[in-house]
Amino acid sequence: MRRPVMAANWKMHKTRGEAEAFARAFLPLVKEAPDVDVVLAPTATALDAVSRVIEGSHVALAAQNVHPAEQGAFTGEISVGMLQDLGCGYAIVGHSERRTLFGETDAQVAEKAHALLAGGLVPIVCVGESLEQRETGQTFAVVGAQLQESLSKVDAAQAEKVIVAYEPIWAIGTGKTATPEIAQETHAMIRERLGAQFGEAGTAMRIQYGGSVKPENVASLMAQPDIDGALVGGASLEPESFSRIVHFQRETAGA
Ligand code: 13P
Repeated sequence: MRRPVMAANWKMHKTRGEAEAFARAFLPLVKEAPDVDVVLAPTATALDAVSRVIEGSHVALAAQNVHPAEQGAFTGEISVGMLQDLGCGYAIVGHSERRTLFGETDAQVAEKAHALLAGGLVPIVCVGESLEQRETGQTFAVVGAQLQESLSKVDAAQAEKVIVAYEPIWAIGTGKTATPEIAQETHAMIRERLGAQFGEAGTAMRIQYGGSVKPENVASLMAQPDIDGALVGGASLEPESFSRIVHFQRETAGA
């Protein structure tokens, strides 16, 4: 049984004070959600502030990016060891915004995922097609290739820890959620590829959906057999809204 995992990707939002206020308001709202992994990914500047508030709770901390080297002359970058020091248990890698706006490649994502696993952190590896790629029938080819190359440095013994986030680019921040059926179709393909690449460990890997997930649509997405969680942008910025997503069983499927 795959344990649901709900992650908040705050992107470039919230000062330290705002992030800390979110965490203080959010913790009491989710204390009765022990069967779901809950992850907050603030900006790098707010990691420490959030870490101090959630320490000792079941809510975990994620970074939005990482550099694979241990240390060195990499101005502006943050290492796995530095994230460990801040209390991070997870890091998002290969988000489509990093791929399209900052030129992050599958090879870099593979290095990052490898370094995170070596440091005991869970990589959340993002994949997803553009609208043009979907409309020209390339979704499976694009996502399949991203998956294979981004996970090329993960071995089967570690695979089970890795989380894959399927985020169709056309659904991010647009209010256009993929229908549960469209999302499931790609998740099923991803599941099959993970199984082929990693065997049994591959079928146990969790696959999140991301792209305009909201309290109103989360239950119908989670009702799909291969959707194991959500990576949430806009609707994770308010404690009440993200806590409703964490408590997705309380929301009515199909609403
Ligand atoms: P939205 O939930 O704002 O569409 O963002 C999705 C996303 O990119 C999460 O990583």
